[in-house]
Amino acid sequence: MATRELGIILHGATGGVCSYQHLRNSLAPIRAEGGLPAGEDVIMPKLLLAGRNPERLAEVAAENGGLGWTADLDSALSDPGYPVFFDAAATHQRVQVLKRAIAAGKHIYTEKPVAPSAEEGLALLRAAEAKGLKHGAVEDKLFLPGFRKLRQLVESGFFGRIIGFHIEFGWWVFDGIAAKSQRPSWNYRKAGGGGLISDMHPHWRYVIEGILGPIERVAAMSWTGQTDRAGEAGGRFGVDVEDSVHTLVELAGGARGAILSSWSTRVRRDDLVTFQVDGTGGSAAAGLRRCWAQAAGATPAIRGFLMGRDPGTMQVSVDYREGWQEVPDAGPYKNPYRFGWEGFIRHVAAGAPFDADLRAGIRDVQLAEACQRSAAEGRWIAMPRL
Ligand SMILES: NC(=O)c1ccc[n+]([C@@H]2O[C@H](COP(=O)([O-])OP(=O)(O)OC[C@H]3O[C@@H](n4cnc5c(N)ncnc54)[C@H](O)[C@@H]3O)[C@@H](O)[C@H]2O)c1
Repeated sequence: MATRELGIILHGATGGVCSYQHLRNSLAPIRAEGGLPAGEDVIMPKLLLAGRNPERLAEVAAENGGLGWTADLDSALSDPGYPVFFDAAATHQRVQVLKRAIAAGKHIYTEKPVAPSAEEGLALLRAAEAKGLKHGAVEDKLFLPGFRKLRQLVESGFFGRIIGFHIEFGWWVFDGIAAKSQRPSWNYRKAGGGGLISDMHPHWRYVIEGILGPIERVAAMSWTGQTDRAGEAGGRFGVDVEDSVHTLVELAGGARGAILSSWSTRVRRDDLVTFQVDGTGGSAAAGLRRCWAQAAGATPAIRGFLMGRDPGTMQVSVDYREGWQEVPDAGPYKNPYRFGWEGFIRHVAAGAPFDADLRAGIRDVQLAEACQRSAAEGRWIAMPRL
């Protein structure tokens, strides 16, 4: 096997998700292992970090073993030594940046949302296809160990006929006034490409369709729980996007479900995200890593509300979590973002098929748009196939 280099520009390299998940947890380990086997060859990613802040770029480059970096995107795009462009910079400038990369003849891989609207996403897709370029979108959550177990249960037929599902997601994101916010402030400004729907619903699309099949229509309600926030520099601003969304979902297969997402809720559930599926053959509930299942035969016959025999305490000793079996690990843990990089590198370097292409990323945006429209207009919105 020969080792070949593949030049990849990482734009927005100093940002939270790029520096930590894409670089430190995915590409740096691939490099440290001597590259990625792809077809007949081993592909060694040659990385060029791109962004705005030279000090931070130099810092991140040094932390990851002395990588190349540049604050001049045009020069990076004109360098034929880097045929792949990855964007994980700010959401609001994504379309413009990807257009420049396509014009420069780069294969593109991008964080979500791939565009603010499906229409703008389709224009990017046409431009990339016209030049014969490869394309991909980050769809990492399907590779969370808990969700992989859920998918295996679906594939094994465990659920019988799937009847319903619900996803619960979120935690309290401090407003930056009472306590430091755990998320960048652009997430709470329309002009910065913020809002919970465009941030999280792209994920819910591929997670739901990847595990349970096509979505037919949705109805959403959104609101802003925390209306005043402070930015990184301390200045106050009024939040002009939603931080909470409840969504009803109808699937083509007949199942119905709900997604409850919020950055203004406190966690009292098994995990930061939980996904429960109910079927005639059994139910299962997954978190990020773990998954528990209850088969039809193990389902307790619950007679109704038990309020306890002792009128003084009203305590009951029933634990409704008993009778759920933990689904065993399928194999060693691998970072969910790394699955995407391995797939995309093999797609570019060896022509391997890659499901999470730009069309998939646009379908992700289509769900976000449908929910935004539903929330604004107060009605169900159809999700026709692209
Ligand atoms: N797949 C996921 O689960 C996931 C998780 C987090 C973020 N994201 C996506 O990744 C992107 C970045 O999110 P983040 O949380 O890392 O944000 P961040 O604010 O930490 O990082 C954004 C980066 O973009 C850079 N940037 C901002 N404006 C720029 C400009 N005009 N030109 C060049 N660089 C610019 C910033 O300097 C920073 O390096 C967003 O699009 C977000 O939706 C995806």
